Amino acid sequence: MNTKALLYKLYNENNLNFDETLELLNDLDTNLKLRNELFACSLETKEKYYQKDVYMRGLIEFSNYCKQNCLYCGIQRSNKNVKRYRLNRNDILNCCKEGYELGFRTFVLQGGEDSYYTDEILIDIIKSIKNDFKDCAITLSIGEKSYDSYLKYFNAGASRFLLRHETADSDLYNYFHPEMDLENRKQCLFDLKKIGYQVGAGFMVGLKGQTNSHLAKDLIFLKELSPHMVGIGPYLSHKDTILKDCKNGDLNKTLIMLALTRLFLPKVLLPSTTALGTLDNTGREKALKIGCNVVMPNLSPTSLRKDYSLYDNKICTGDEAAHCRKCIQRRIENSGFKINMGKGDHIDFK
Ligand code: 5AD
Ligand code: FES
Repeated sequence: MNTKALLYKLYNENNLNFDETLELLNDLDTNLKLRNELFACSLETKEKYYQKDVYMRGLIEFSNYCKQNCLYCGIQRSNKNVKRYRLNRNDILNCCKEGYELGFRTFVLQGGEDSYYTDEILIDIIKSIKNDFKDCAITLSIGEKSYDSYLKYFNAGASRFLLRHETADSDLYNYFHPEMDLENRKQCLFDLKKIGYQVGAGFMVGLKGQTNSHLAKDLIFLKELSPHMVGIGPYLSHKDTILKDCKNGDLNKTLIMLALTRLFLPKVLLPSTTALGTLDNTGREKALKIGCNVVMPNLSPTSLRKDYSLYDNKICTGDEAAHCRKCIQRRIENSGFKINMGKGDHIDFK
């Protein structure tokens, strides 16, 4: 089959096998006409299910302590230059309050893998948020835990969980995470789904050594998992990591992966990521125009934001939550879309 036929097969059937995916990816690297057709298909698919809506989530980066040592990550355990911080329950509730007043109805609690937050502490935080903000959804993004812990957080009121698989190729995975195991991470994702969470997986584009064959594996894995959300962003270098001289991921390649993900999983919630906005001043707008439908402005205390630095030059680190809220609304509307401040469930959960 020629690649145009492959694209339309994907558009119509929302699936391709590995060889077909790889062939399409290879051609998309240079075939600009095909790339534009892909982008038109992905936008149309998004609008079929979510119209012009773009959902807002308030991100609270509540701890930058992490017991892991992901090679690319600025807050990895072995980085001694990070000023570490933790937010307590009250700090977190204050972020939620500020967010609630700005209209947010979803809070994403993201942190490194920090054992200070025992299940008991986390459950208390989740229940307190649910109690104070009854009409809000809580998303967790706190890494790998046991089935039992995931179940406890769910029963306490968390209903969504983000855990990027980072890369679905085990050799690449092992290189970047020498102490971790891809099979375990995948198991966590299947566990989360089984419990009933709306689950987000995802990966980085432009990692050192990453090929189209690796990226095809990411798409095939996503199809198998069928998560409700998928976070995809370019790899960006961080000055304190051993990968500091590796070049950043490519904007167009990231857009291609987002658009293909939209076609593999037509109803997926697809964030236009901060990393894309960091790579390119209008990267988030470009992503919205090819089928992304979520943005996650930062609600973390301004004084601490610079310390949650996964990569260099992260945008919005000096800005008040209210400023980001307005800025992002303007960007969304100028791109021809409509801001939706609702809880923004996946269409199958409505
Ligand atoms: N560049 C881009 N994204 C990164 N992440 C971590 N470090 C980097 C980096 N250097 C991403 C990972 C993680 C998410 C929270 O941020 O994919 O899952
Ligand atoms: Fe902790 Fe990557 S090293 S999130």
